[in-house]
Amino acid sequence: MSITDSTIVNPAKSINVDLGERSYPIHIGSGQILQADISQYVQGKKALIVSNETIAPLYLQSILDQLQDKQVDQVILKDGEQYKNLDNLNLIFTQLIEKHHDRKTTLIALGGGVVGDMTGYAAASYQRGVPFIQIPTTLLSQVDSSVGGKTAVNHALGKNMIGAFYQPQAVIIDTDTLATLPQREFCAGMAEVIKYGLISDEDFFHWLEANVDALLARDPQALATAIERSCLNKAKVVSADETEQGIRAILNLGHTFGHAIETFQQYTGLLHGEAVAVGMVMAAELSVLSGALKPEDVERTKGLINAFSLPVAPPQDMHADDFMALMVRDKKVLDGQLRLILLERIGSATVTADFRLQWLEATLAKACSA
Ligand code: NAD
Ligand code: GLY
Repeated sequence: MSITDSTIVNPAKSINVDLGERSYPIHIGSGQILQADISQYVQGKKALIVSNETIAPLYLQSILDQLQDKQVDQVILKDGEQYKNLDNLNLIFTQLIEKHHDRKTTLIALGGGVVGDMTGYAAASYQRGVPFIQIPTTLLSQVDSSVGGKTAVNHALGKNMIGAFYQPQAVIIDTDTLATLPQREFCAGMAEVIKYGLISDEDFFHWLEANVDALLARDPQALATAIERSCLNKAKVVSADETEQGIRAILNLGHTFGHAIETFQQYTGLLHGEAVAVGMVMAAELSVLSGALKPEDVERTKGLINAFSLPVAPPQDMHADDFMALMVRDKKVLDGQLRLILLERIGSATVTADFRLQWLEATLAKACSA
């Protein structure tokens, strides 16, 4: 794929996530909350919107206005990764039961990845499964978490430990919602955008390097290109391996390290995207030790991550032993063996359990002394 003006999303664009009978569209564009006709994805007479106290005042009414012929209830959750847990998930189930929602109800996730992951898991499990729609409002959720059907809540002992693969009916990405997103959150989303360049799309990595200023200024065309290209990359991988039996694991570049950081900080320290940024640098360092990646590519990776004011080293109070203790609980551990995502070059990644422990130890020692 090369990047030209034809990939710019203007006007709205749709990408299909190709999963047979579970296929669904991703609608991307300015004004999509109003234009995508959300009601076409609400088949029954009832819907439940899940949002949080920050996002609801901004965008909830626009959705309510479109569903006036339905019984639409709402759950407004507290805002924060630390609330992505079973206690808060239960608030969704309580509302569904109290308001007599049946198997024909549709759940609507309005928010970032926290709201999306929780709503998706509620949809996967309420009465053994009801339809849901993703309306992601952060950059991170627009380029990653809303697409692909991974749903989950955290446990105090581990990130995203309780969840299901469960695909939405549609993903509606209104790029206008990014206008209200705080800069730190915007940059955290850029970590997952950079991830696609690193794992599978060298041209996109070059394009990102060349378009840092436009992206930081949230230039609408640059943003639309970055979101569309990210969704294309993600849709391709998910279509090839919906339930992560193999290649989908490359989407987790840096996440084993990142999730360890988030759990260590009990979900109140670095943002998810920030932790992933640190993890991607660590994965790149390990890839150099494995002999696959050139040292200068680590510097390019760090350079792009730095350009978006993202961290490149773990929190100072976190030590190699802390990483080791948390990484053994990673979901990529199979039969007691940790698998890591390593870079072969910029634009190509591989999943492997075939790495030397001393490479990992050296990577942790270097990162924790930085
Ligand atoms: P988030 O959901 O916590 O949102 C970040 C912050 O931005 C919150 O304070 C939120 O209220 C606020 N916000 C959201 N939209 C806004 C808007 N338009 N204007 C103003 N403020 C807004 O964080 P996130 O980065 O979106 O998502 C992180 C979560 O996503 C993590 O839990 C992570 O594990 C998960 N995730 C899941 C997948 C997946 O495949 N399911 C992939 C990546 C990440
Ligand atoms: N965010 C990783 C995945 O969707 O597989």
